[in-house]
Amino acid sequence: MKYEKLQAPKGVKEYLPPNSAAFEWVRESLIAPAKLAGYKLMELPVFEDTALFSRGVGESTDVVSKEMYTFEDRGGRSLTLRPEGTAGVMRAIIESGLDRGQLPVKVWYSGQFFRAERPQAGRYRQFYQVGIEAVGLDDPAIDAEVIAVADQGFRDLGLKNYRLEITSLGDAQSRAAHRVDLMKYIAKLDLDEQTRTRSEINPLRLFDDKRAEIKQAMEQAPLLLDYLSPESAENFTQVKSYLDSLEITYIVNPRMVRGLDYYTGTTFEFIHEDLGAQSGIGGGGRYSGLMEILGGQALSGIGFGLGVDRALLAVEAEGLLNQDRFTSDLFIIPIGEQEKSVALAIATTLRKAGIRTEIAFGDRALKGAMKAADKSGSRYLVVIGDAEVKSGVVELKRMSDGSVSSVKISQLQQVLIGAL
Ligand code: HAM
Repeated sequence: MKYEKLQAPKGVKEYLPPNSAAFEWVRESLIAPAKLAGYKLMELPVFEDTALFSRGVGESTDVVSKEMYTFEDRGGRSLTLRPEGTAGVMRAIIESGLDRGQLPVKVWYSGQFFRAERPQAGRYRQFYQVGIEAVGLDDPAIDAEVIAVADQGFRDLGLKNYRLEITSLGDAQSRAAHRVDLMKYIAKLDLDEQTRTRSEINPLRLFDDKRAEIKQAMEQAPLLLDYLSPESAENFTQVKSYLDSLEITYIVNPRMVRGLDYYTGTTFEFIHEDLGAQSGIGGGGRYSGLMEILGGQALSGIGFGLGVDRALLAVEAEGLLNQDRFTSDLFIIPIGEQEKSVALAIATTLRKAGIRTEIAFGDRALKGAMKAADKSGSRYLVVIGDAEVKSGVVELKRMSDGSVSSVKISQLQQVLIGAL
């Protein structure tokens, strides 16, 4: 009987060797600045009670209304695969009481997220984010730090063709004042029932509508940025001046609408210029009511989520994938049993010194092993046979130009460190 091959589900993104090395590099680079800034790991479940997202992320969002992977477990509970990370972090902080200790609570996370979107380049049903949240203090300097940490990750990857857009959604007073005028404006528009219902839950959603007629209808709509209370306006000015002093360039986009409903105050997005339709490589902002809505204290937080898949596409688009970063430094081919044990000892020593060392295992003929060395992309090669074991000297071959030099095995580490 011949079995049919199975395939990965539609719209999921997987990373396999050799490309997974680039994925890993992007993910680690994006989160490294957060670790340097004192954010600590939070490892959370990938599924949560459905209510966490419907309440936390908001019923007016596409994420909650159309894109959740929701299922019933064996006990009849409604669970949902996490579409984003912030609500889960809040739930865990409240549940563990971390908000009763030192504030702000500063955490980072990394992993898979799930949204049942229509798959296309850069848009997947399972995708990867790294994110941070700083919870418990409402200080514009934190807003600037969070943005700076995200920006540093993109810079460390070498990315250049991206821009940072920011805006402020103000405090409750600003939003209430704006809402009155926006609702009046929207009442005059000719909208289908679904759109009207949506706009009643969150009228800002209409700024994000992709349909040309709605876009046009919203051109003259009142902008929240013009309704900021004096405190909110001052807060936004401070955030911008901190960014200026950090020499982080940004564009104020008063029409920005984030896809999640919990935002208040500073919000931001990073847009990459070379990615086409799915150009958002990261985004975030402040959320002042979320913790309370989820049953916790009324503490404000701010954070970001960066799209690892899209950052990798951006790195590829800008031609920044330096293959040397992902290959081994040295490939050792032992010929014979005794030589294998010598190779293992050499490799152990070199790896301790941080030199990426591979060994050709198995009993392949030299020719096959040389091919494997070539394919591995390793930068140097040594073959260890009887003569090398006896003399303690190997021929170190540089793969880029084939040049060879004689090196004592005891000196290999020093020579390689100098050469790499
Ligand atoms: P978000 O803007 O929904 O924010 O997602 C953050 C990033 O995840 C996006 O900028 C994008 O790069 C990536 N992303 C989102 N959906 C997909 C998808 N279907 N395929 C590939 N990549 C995707 C949040 O999730 C918030 N939790 C961020 C945050 C943290 N705000 C405050 N704290």
